[in-house]
Amino acid sequence: MDSADDICPRPQRLLPQATQPHAPPIYLSSVYECLDPEQADALLGGREQGYVYARDGHPNADLLAEKCRQLHDTERATIAGSGMAALAAVVLSQLAPGDHVVVSDQLYGRTLLLFSGEAARLGITSTQVDICNLAAVEQAMSERTRMIVVETISNPLLRVADLAALANLAHAHGATLLADNTFASPAVCRPRQWGADWVMESLTKIMNGHSDVILGLLCGPAARWQRVPAVLSTWGLASAPFDCWLAMRGLGTMALRVERASTNALAAARLLIDSPGVAAVYYPGLPDHPDHAVARRQFGEHFGSIVSFTLSGGLDAARAFITAAHRIPFCPSLGELSTTLSHPESTSHRALTPQERSRLGIAGGTIRLSVGIESTSAVLAALAEGLAGLGAT
Ligand SMILES: Cc1ncc(COP(=O)(O)O)c(C=O)c1O
Repeated sequence: MDSADDICPRPQRLLPQATQPHAPPIYLSSVYECLDPEQADALLGGREQGYVYARDGHPNADLLAEKCRQLHDTERATIAGSGMAALAAVVLSQLAPGDHVVVSDQLYGRTLLLFSGEAARLGITSTQVDICNLAAVEQAMSERTRMIVVETISNPLLRVADLAALANLAHAHGATLLADNTFASPAVCRPRQWGADWVMESLTKIMNGHSDVILGLLCGPAARWQRVPAVLSTWGLASAPFDCWLAMRGLGTMALRVERASTNALAAARLLIDSPGVAAVYYPGLPDHPDHAVARRQFGEHFGSIVSFTLSGGLDAARAFITAAHRIPFCPSLGELSTTLSHPESTSHRALTPQERSRLGIAGGTIRLSVGIESTSAVLAALAEGLAGLGAT
């Protein structure tokens, strides 16, 4: 092979050694070069620190995981290919056939399916309860219960789990508490502070904040971490370097974004409460929200960027609002820069029966807003356009 065929120059021969890049490089390489069989054996056997194959680990995932570990003040953190992959990793690494899990009945629909369908297929049973009813949670616990699974803020009615009380309950029964913190983000709540053992985030949402990656985070205790890396690699739950790099960039502005979006969300909730045609507004920052006291204790000043409301005119009113609020895109996700809306009945909760939806308080007229970082006046003006459209219903 002559030198013109050497199409793969070694990076270490290209980088000037006297300086370091200020922004983190993106290590897209799926594989790393080993010096000799002894080193390969030591790296793969875990006796030497280093990367070999990106499904087992890569620098961009490790940088992001370390940043998230610090944010959540936890012993261990890892990045998975999606929020669902992070949840799958906790199920596959911590639970075994015969184990039982108590789960909130207001979990994200796919998470409910993970427990009622996929985990059940593996012999892991679960009981769904109203997580805000501590007596019901306690009643659902048995000697086989290994974990309680909650969302810090539920979707779409924004109920707030009392994490300290749930952690005490879990620990008293020899179980652990897993908090899905996606709707809060560490800028609003750090569940470890309140005793949660496991924290999971869909980084896809608020933490990345730009609607351009799918990623998940799992944080947990060192004592229970042993199986997590092998589960991530063997079940193929790993993350992509470029996505990790983007999420790292998004994280840099998370605190500012959440602060601004929370201010806007409170203003939006106050506008909606005073508007004709709005039957109910759900936002933990409002004093009459059923969990306002818990939210104040756990969150402090900011209550997050999600606001839901139910229009008294039902589905017709929701259609009219969505059409008239033409500056607010209908996007069934959340946590990005601009304000978006979703309609839980036709999107996140469409798999539920009408009776189940009605038990959870989700109606045809329920709309979930993910409030963005625009100026407050722009958010309120865009909402006012939607509310004006209700006149026609
Ligand atoms: C609360 C919550 N948890 C977990 C997930 C799953 O995350 P991902 O879409 O990144 O797999 C979602 C997705 O919408 C979510 O809303």
